[in-house]
Amino acid sequence: MPHPVDLAARVLADVAPRRFTPRIDQVRLDARAVLGRLGGREAEPLVTADPNVPPLEEVALLDVLPRGIANRVRGVGRDLTMVARQLRGRRPQHLVTRQERAPAAPRPPKRAHADENRATITRRVQETSRAVSLYLEGALLDATPPRAGQFLTVEAELGGRVVRRCYSFASAEGDAPFITIKRVNDGAMSTFLTTQVTEGARLKVLPAGGFFTLDAVAESLVFIAGGSGITPIVSLIETALREGHPRVHLIYGNHSQEDTIFRERITALSETHRERFTVTWFVENGASGNAREGRPTEAALTRELNALALEPSTAFICGPDPMREAAERALAAAGVHDVRTERFAIAEAGRVVATDAVVTFDVGGREVIAESAGETLLEIGERAGLTLPFSCAMGGCGTCRLKVEGDVVMDEPNALTDEERREGYVLTCVSRACGPVRVKL
Ligand code: FES
Repeated sequence: MPHPVDLAARVLADVAPRRFTPRIDQVRLDARAVLGRLGGREAEPLVTADPNVPPLEEVALLDVLPRGIANRVRGVGRDLTMVARQLRGRRPQHLVTRQERAPAAPRPPKRAHADENRATITRRVQETSRAVSLYLEGALLDATPPRAGQFLTVEAELGGRVVRRCYSFASAEGDAPFITIKRVNDGAMSTFLTTQVTEGARLKVLPAGGFFTLDAVAESLVFIAGGSGITPIVSLIETALREGHPRVHLIYGNHSQEDTIFRERITALSETHRERFTVTWFVENGASGNAREGRPTEAALTRELNALALEPSTAFICGPDPMREAAERALAAAGVHDVRTERFAIAEAGRVVATDAVVTFDVGGREVIAESAGETLLEIGERAGLTLPFSCAMGGCGTCRLKVEGDVVMDEPNALTDEERREGYVLTCVSRACGPVRVKL
């Protein structure tokens, strides 16, 4: 146990500035000498060190504590000292020696993040009372930017069913991508997208697809659009004008002026490119200005095409079936044979579709059997829990092509070639069973 004088000096030395330590030590020695003399010990000169008196630095305050507690306090003190040194950037020994770790097992390859198939709505624009544009952003769109005229497939769970629909991009190539959706009566997806989706929402999407593009076109371009069929057409027109096409004509029909999607955008383009771009408007109700009153019938289109005195041209058509058929006939009569069409609504099959036919999916020797309720083969397969290939879900891309045995009716036209038909292929997204059917996967 340290002498009380030593302890007192130790405390004093710890709290006093370091330069006082020699003097405190001297006082301590003197005090010990005085006390020694008072205790009857032989008098010693005050300046001579007493060998029984330990140097001040060896006096430990913790020695007043029981040894076990003192040891623990010393250990904590050491640890704190090391932590303090580490904080000051020095590298003391570790407090705890770690066990060597076994080498980590190789990690499985990283899977594609589910988020990659999501697109965020960054902006929503009400184009007309029923049409809305949704600007989209996401890794998938960054990786495969849409080309002018292509479409985006959107997937959502609506009313307990997974629903997929495709919508054309209305943005010019290279611009911030956006799709435009017109709400149709009883259209679950179009109602959802036009009335419920807000900015910041995230949609599940598939990569942009479609061949309704400006590949290998003539210099002169004719576009014929009806209603929301303008969506891919305006994308193509703006892109073609930027690319320098010298002659671009648009014939565009609508029910009313108010229903006319992109009226201002198209007007602005025609004013900017006055020399290269002309527009003929058809309006059924309340035509004004230079708009033609009525529908773009075959006779009306023939008149307009003759007036344009077309040289070799490429024509693009997108609109309701009656207008599309009228436009195809009028273009043929005007000598335009490079005609490209985009259907923006799935046509009804003209034949009787069975609502109780057995559909057997042959999945590599295993059979999955489901009963048709009049849906497409793609929908029946998905209802049966199968993952079938598809993209556009409207007969336009050919991704869902599968071999089928049995009586099937397909919406026409579609992307299937005559040779594929002869070989027994169908597009499952637009095929319905008229009797027992076997689908080979
Ligand atoms: S999914 Fe595109 S044609 Fe069927």
